[in-house]
Formats: sequence, C-alpha cells, structure tokens
Amino acid sequence: MKKKYIGQVFTPVKWAEWLINKWNIFDAWVNGAHICDPTAGQGVFALAMLHIARRNGIPITRERLSRLTLIEIVPSHLERFRENVKQEFEVDFPTSRIFCQDVITEGHAGKYDILVGNPPWANFSALPTDYKERLKPLFLQEGLVPDRQKMLLGSSRVDIAALVLKVVLGRLVKKNGTGYFYIPTSLFFGDGAHNGFRNYLARDSRNADASYRDFAVDTVYEWTSTKVFDGVGTSYCCARFRGDKRQDFPVSYFRESAERWVEHKALPLKDRTDPWRVVRDLDELKEGTTLEVRLSSEQVPRQGVNTCGANSVFIFDQKPSHLPEQFLYPLATKELWRQQTGLPQKWILLPYHGQTGKPLTWCQIEQYPVLRDYLQNVQQVLQARKGTLLRTALKRGSWWALLGVGPYSFAPFKIIWEAYGKDEFNPIVLSSVEGQMWQANQSMQAFIPCWTERDAQRIKTALENPKIPALLGQLNGAGKCNWAQPGKIKKILGISS
Ligand SMILES: C[S@@+](CC[C@H](N)C(=O)[O-])C[C@H]1O[C@@H](n2cnc3c(N)ncnc32)[C@H](O)[C@@H]1O
Repeated sequence: MKKKYIGQVFTPVKWAEWLINKWNIFDAWVNGAHICDPTAGQGVFALAMLHIARRNGIPITRERLSRLTLIEIVPSHLERFRENVKQEFEVDFPTSRIFCQDVITEGHAGKYDILVGNPPWANFSALPTDYKERLKPLFLQEGLVPDRQKMLLGSSRVDIAALVLKVVLGRLVKKNGTGYFYIPTSLFFGDGAHNGFRNYLARDSRNADASYRDFAVDTVYEWTSTKVFDGVGTSYCCARFRGDKRQDFPVSYFRESAERWVEHKALPLKDRTDPWRVVRDLDELKEGTTLEVRLSSEQVPRQGVNTCGANSVFIFDQKPSHLPEQFLYPLATKELWRQQTGLPQKWILLPYHGQTGKPLTWCQIEQYPVLRDYLQNVQQVLQARKGTLLRTALKRGSWWALLGVGPYSFAPFKIIWEAYGKDEFNPIVLSSVEGQMWQANQSMQAFIPCWTERDAQRIKTALENPKIPALLGQLNGAGKCNWAQPGKIKKILGISS
C-alpha cells in the first residue's frame, strides 16, 4: 500500500449529511462554530454542509467558509474538492482553510469547536514499512501499545484510526469541543489491540512534556445491515466524542435492527479499558462476568497453527502418501461441527518434534529424505514469508517453522471451538486420528490443551455454561472475526494475559 492510499474509505455524501443532521452540526456551524475535517479526503463533509445550506436558502458567505477547515495528506483530493466547490457553488473555497499535511506527524496550529469525518481505517501491520517506523513512537506515546515488544506482537492489529482519533482529539479540538466520526467498531470491541485506545486519554501536543486530556464517547450508532460504505468488510459505527470529559458508562449504544435504531447500553466487560459489552437492559448485567474453571498454567486458550501465508506448502486436502506420516496431523475444519463426522477433511504438515514442540533440526529432517526434498523444493517460498514472530525462527535458520506450534499442539486432548465469524459457542473434545493429534487452524478455531481425557471432559462441561455464549453475544462478536478468540475466552475465564 502506498502512503498516499492509506485507509481510504470515502463517505457517500448521503451519509455525510446523515451524520451532520443527526448531531445538528450544520446549525452549530451557522451559529458560529469552527468545524474541521482532519482527514478530509475529497471534502465530502464540507460539501455536505454547503449542500444543506443551499437547500435551506442559507447564504454561503466568506465568513462561513472561513469556519470550515480541511486537512488531508493527498494533494489531489484537496484540488478535487476546490474544483467541486467552484463548479457546484460558484465560490472559491479559501486556500487558507485547506491544509495538505500529515495530521499525525506534522504540527497544526488551529483548534476547532467541532471535528467531523472519517479517519483512515487500516491495521498498523498493513502500513508501508517506512511509515510504520515513523509512526511507532507516536503509537507508543499515545498509549496505544504499552511497549515496543507488544507492538510487534498482537498489537500490530491496532488500527491507525485509533491513532488519528487520539491525535486530533488531543491537539485539534478546543476545550470542551466535540468530535463526530465514522469509525470501525473494533475500537470499542477489539480485545488486546485497542485496550490502549480505551484509556480515553489523548496527548495535548507533540511536545515531550505534553499533558493528557480526557475524551469520552457518549453515543454510538452501529449499522448491522445498511451498507453505508460499500465493499467494506470491517464493521463500523459512528460516534460522538466529547473533549475534556471523563469517560462515563453506560454509553448510549444504538444498533440498527429491522431498519430501526434500537437503544442499548454499552459498558466495559470488567476493567475500564476492556472491550465493551452491549446489553438491551442493565438487568442483563446481574450475571457475573467470570466463570470459574480450574486450569493449569499450560492450559491457556490458544489460536491454531499459522503457516504465515504458506498454506499451499503445509496444508493438504488429502493425506499426502509421499510424506512421512508421523509429521502429518488432521486439521480441524467446519465439518467437525456441521457433520459431526470425526473424519479429517484436511491434513497439515508439522516438521516438529512431538515431545518438545520444537521444529526438527535440519539433521533430523535429513533422516527423512522425502521430507528433506519436499522442504528444499519450497525453501525460497518459506524463507520469503513475512511476520515478525516468524522472523525469529527464520533467523535461527528454522525456515520450515510455523507459528502457534508448541508442546500444547501435541497434547493428547484438545477442547476446541470455532472462534471466527460464528454466533454459537460449541466446544468439542478432540484427540487423535491414527495416533496423530488434531490441530486447530489459525484464527478459525481456538483450543485448550489437556493431558487426560477426564480433564478434557471436565473443562468441556464447564465451557458449556450458557453464560459464555451470552457474554460473547454482548461483546458484539457474533458473525465477526473476533467471535470467540482466545483473548475473550481468557477474560471470561478470568485468566490474565
Ligand atoms: C477514510 S478516508 C475519509 C475521507 C473523508 N473524510 C471521507 O469521509 O470521505 C481517510 C482519508 O484520510 C487521509 N489520510 C490518511 N492518513 C492521513 C494523515 N496521516 N494525515 C492526513 N490525512 C490522512 C486519506 O488520504 C483519506 O483521504
């Protein structure tokens, strides 16, 4: 991705107007407020204001224009905006109110009563490498990741929208000002990656001695069926942010249901920075949020094996007869839950030592000439794989390693559940096929390893508590990628990360 295309999801004019009308931003402007879109794209929010003015017969004066500000990193978007204003409204938009700059890394002198817009949506890990390097200190300063190490691990899923919001709410909004934004819902519901956003604090300047300002989210509208942004897989909402106000709960949370807005209440699962749960009625909160299940320190819920983009090398639809059987393992697929057949639909090659959970050494691989030849043929593909964690294994020379493999992968029993995109929580116990342990697949499934069948049955029975799917539902993951991922289950089971 080129820097100039970071997180571009333009708002349709209809929905820019919707947001402006929902929160009376137009009236505030006419009554003297200074408005700024800090990541303005082609200026749809400013254009929407001008459209509303024209429809209502309100003159577009120079003074009113001087209270609309656009900041955007891509110059051609701003040029397009000026042309559109000229064409549609026959006025020259003041160049003094247009800033072509990087709102994150460059200073901006103005402060505004109202911020409005749609910050870029993109995972940190998807940003261009050099830009990532420049942004890293800012992610750290804004508390979005606790340290550099975490930045490399799970927190690379932190969204750049979180950083932009912190920067603009900290530096561009006047005292007690307000921000209205379309944003991904993961800022409120992401476990791990967005805890740092949910400290509800933003730095008030770029200086080393900056102090922190509170900000609070008080109202959210989440779309569930209407397509505001076409072709966007991320789930999104719009929210009102209040500057210099401490975050209070519950938040008014409106969810689209059968073309209506149904009011809910949102509040953090346990700690203040936790992902939110959404309930219709506060009575639903009476049930506790932790389920007591006795687990040993090895029994933390985990994601499955990750080939880091080399599925075609490691995963097979049929058990390959040419590779040594002891390194081929049945891979869990949805059929285990749908058809309740215990027959593997896929197999995965793990060139690992079953006892230690460590990759085989090259010496050990050489004892299996077919395996050695197979791996040597794909050496380049495997060495070219990306991923910070994998890089450590690559550096050690084990270019045949995978992520998420350890002694737990070879435990004789696993309680395994579908973790991605589901709305049911159905843990099952799996052991082995022809002596080879079942493996969970990346984020599709998660599991808890067990070393006796009795223990596995005990934990499975505990996980069948209806409280778990109820809590997962409140955590807003139904149908989404983070439905029952290990982080959430850990929280529910009271396991600290
Ligand atoms: C999600 S788009 C939204 C644009 C516009 N507000 C809209 O709603 O149509 C985000 C915009 O932010 C711009 N952008 C990305 N990173 C930026 C940065 N660091 N500073 C300023 N603008 C940025 C992108 O070029 C893009 O136009």
